[in-house]
Amino acid sequence: MTSSPTFSHVVFMTRRFEEMKAWYMNVFGAEIVHGDAALAFLTYDDESHRFAIANLDILKPDAPADSGHGEIGLNHIAYTYPTAADLLETYARLRKQGVTPYWPVHHGFTLSMYYQDPDGNRIELQVESCNSQEAFDYMRSNAFASNPVGVEFDPEDLLARYREGASEAELTAFPAGSPSAIPEAHGIA
Ligand SMILES: [Fe+2]
Repeated sequence: MTSSPTFSHVVFMTRRFEEMKAWYMNVFGAEIVHGDAALAFLTYDDESHRFAIANLDILKPDAPADSGHGEIGLNHIAYTYPTAADLLETYARLRKQGVTPYWPVHHGFTLSMYYQDPDGNRIELQVESCNSQEAFDYMRSNAFASNPVGVEFDPEDLLARYREGASEAELTAFPAGSPSAIPEAHGIA
């Protein structure tokens, strides 16, 4: 029996980048943890980010400004499992049903698997790979600025290592590798 996940964060896609950041900072008293021209990560508590805002004017500059609500709006909602074991048991349970992640990626502070529901809404299931102070430090580092997306991993390989008895620290370690491409299914590339 795996533990239930808890809400982590929500990500929006916008062509009103400055207005959106200002709105969430005002309404929630949120602060920007990391921000560049394309992405901003904001939080109002000890979670690494409670909101991320993706600037489609940078990420998808060629799309028409009136491209409609299908692009503007929600990108994904994220939920955190207490352990990598919970995340991997959930991965294995869903895979047996033919439900597989379209993007397994380690963000540097979370090990994440992105799924799409039957309507195409994106759900990120994740486990934290460090404590919140380490996550804030990482998000404010040059390493994060140079790779704010993360490194892709093979969930089958990780599941096998889990079943061989790898520790939580080993399972959640940030893999070496080049920055992951953002898959088309993710909607911002
Ligand atoms: Fe996320």
